[in-house]
Amino acid sequence: MSEISDAKTGLIFGTDTGNTEEVGDKIAEQLAVYGSVVEMINVAETSPEEIESFDFLILGIPTWDFGGIQEDWEAFEDDIHTARLEGKTVAMYGLGDQRGYGDYFVDAMGWLNKRILRAGATVIGRWSTEGYEFEASLAANEDKSSFCGLAVDEDQQFELTDERVEKWVKQVVTEYECL
Ligand SMILES: Cc1cc2nc3c(=O)[nH]c(=O)nc-3n(C[C@H](O)[C@H](O)[C@H](O)COP(=O)(O)O)c2cc1C
Repeated sequence: MSEISDAKTGLIFGTDTGNTEEVGDKIAEQLAVYGSVVEMINVAETSPEEIESFDFLILGIPTWDFGGIQEDWEAFEDDIHTARLEGKTVAMYGLGDQRGYGDYFVDAMGWLNKRILRAGATVIGRWSTEGYEFEASLAANEDKSSFCGLAVDEDQQFELTDERVEKWVKQVVTEYECL
């Protein structure tokens, strides 16, 4: 059993208009409640070596342009494969707009999940789809009952974000400490 407060934790985010960074701040604030000090890094300014230096990674990614990958994450794709992520624990959160882009809701988080799993990391923090309305999402499982990480909708459900972050962080801490 490993304590979250002992883990070197990095939150790596990509963002076009700032929402994913703001939600990252909220996640870091909540993790501080559990004694965890989180280093926040923009994916545009990191390297495979830096990512490898963390025990626990939280990755934040928004979806753009009908299921598109935020450009700095897309540019980092090869580096995900270069980084030695075997044995690392990763949790993900994705930003999207379920009403505006309901056929592609938080798709980029699904894209990232695939690559992180392929790199050999353990992914924690699956999140129920209850309370969301969308047609399709690459981040959801087959029966659309859960997402591979926390889905956040600052466009349509901003009033739910704080509560979702608080619950998700609690869940992630429990899962991390039970590994
Ligand atoms: C032109 C445009 C395209 C978008 N495409 C998608 C999409 O395909 N899927 C989705 O879930 N959200 C989509 N969104 C919503 C963004 O992901 C959302 O606003 C997010 O909070 C932006 O995060 P950022 O500020 O960190 O870049 C789109 C928004 C705009 C303005």
